[in-house]
Amino acid sequence: MQDKAYIWSKITRYFHWLLVICILVTFLSSLFENALLIHIAFGSLAGGLLTFRLIWGFIGPKYERFSHFDFSLSDLWFYLSNLFKDRKIYVGHNPAASWATVLLIVFGFFCTLSGVMLMGSEEERGLFSFLSADYYKEILYIHSISKNVVGIVALIHIVGALLEHFWHKTKIINTMIDGYKNVNAPSTQTTPFQKAFGTFSIIFSLLMGIFTLIAPAYSIMTNNANEVIYHIDNPLYAKECSECHNLYPPILLSKESWSVVLDDPKEHFKEDLTKKVPHFESIKSYILAHSAQSASNEISRNILESTEGKNIYRITRTKYWKDTHAFIPRDAYKHPKIKTKSNCSACHMNFGISNYINDEEISLQYFSLYEAMKIYLHVKN
Ligand code: HEC
Ligand code: HEC
Repeated sequence: MQDKAYIWSKITRYFHWLLVICILVTFLSSLFENALLIHIAFGSLAGGLLTFRLIWGFIGPKYERFSHFDFSLSDLWFYLSNLFKDRKIYVGHNPAASWATVLLIVFGFFCTLSGVMLMGSEEERGLFSFLSADYYKEILYIHSISKNVVGIVALIHIVGALLEHFWHKTKIINTMIDGYKNVNAPSTQTTPFQKAFGTFSIIFSLLMGIFTLIAPAYSIMTNNANEVIYHIDNPLYAKECSECHNLYPPILLSKESWSVVLDDPKEHFKEDLTKKVPHFESIKSYILAHSAQSASNEISRNILESTEGKNIYRITRTKYWKDTHAFIPRDAYKHPKIKTKSNCSACHMNFGISNYINDEEISLQYFSLYEAMKIYLHVKN
């Protein structure tokens, strides 16, 4: 009979497979702009799990502790150069898995931290919403480097595990499912404190992810104090400028463009707003003060960059708008509920309520499933 020992505690195995799911889902969801909420929910879950694993590395059961890992480079070299030969079976993590675990924890942690910071600086949302948008390129850089390290290490780890499992027939994948390894060693012991701490951490991380998904406004996705609710901030503007169409948030055009759109009836589709709109001057100064230049969010920055100083009097003619809506079928605007490109609220829920236009609030209800899929997957028409 072969020796058998219980090596990986239940908590560690739950952690491992939950993290596998997180890595898979965050990578997949990053491919779709519309899946930001899912990306962040699983990112939060991963953040919780990784924090737990970091602590677990010091206070967890024997084989999970970093002190039991094998970080010796010569052992790693020996392990890698004998990959296809018969060699010893390690009780805990082999040298490659030791390095993989630590790299995944450290860079996974960087990923989640820089992700939250990115939400703060790029979208003015969440814990780091005080961060200036000037830093977003650097933070994005850290986010994508850490993501690449996580991706590469995870792939190497998977290849290594498959090799162990099928080539060396150590059934290492089963080990991560039932916890048992064919080695002659003492089985692992989990103290009641470790059990309580592990169970609490995993449930807490799961709840954090679920909470983000069902109540994004109260999670790390939350909008910050820079959110301006127009009908509270300036009821006059909110009322008068939504008489004939959607309330267009001032952040969507530059100051110069707004001046022309508002003053020149030729540019306002023959409507002379100076005569038609009560309290016109006060509304106008409010709009100019809240134009794209005054905002530091991603959308305003993109609008200003894409118009390159040219005055454009329709939001739908900015290069940014055209680019972000390029995947919408041309005849979509013939739909009786949509009618025109300028009918933003047909597709953007809560449009015109505040100075935020959130990806999660896009509704494709007027599209067929096939069209909606094409828009989601960014398939050009
Ligand atoms: C009397 C009716 C009326 C009022 C009041 C009015 N508008 Fe308009 N506005 C129009 C019409 C008509 C259009 C053209 C809409 C279209 O083509 O779909 C338009 C278009 C616009 C556009 C261009 C939309 C785009 O596609 O880029 C902006 C911006 C705009 N209005 C802002 C305002 C603001 C700000 C106010 C308040 C000061 C205002 N409007 C008040 C009639 C009005
Ligand atoms: C027919 C539906 C539809 C209409 C009408 C529409 N949009 Fe959109 N909009 C979308 C879709 C779908 C996306 C997401 C595209 C993607 O997946 O990248 C989007 C994306 C955007 C984005 C980018 C959001 C981000 O954070 O990346 C902005 C800003 C935006 N729309 C503003 C507007 C404005 C302003 C109007 C009205 C002038 C408007 N949209 C009209 C469907 C629409």
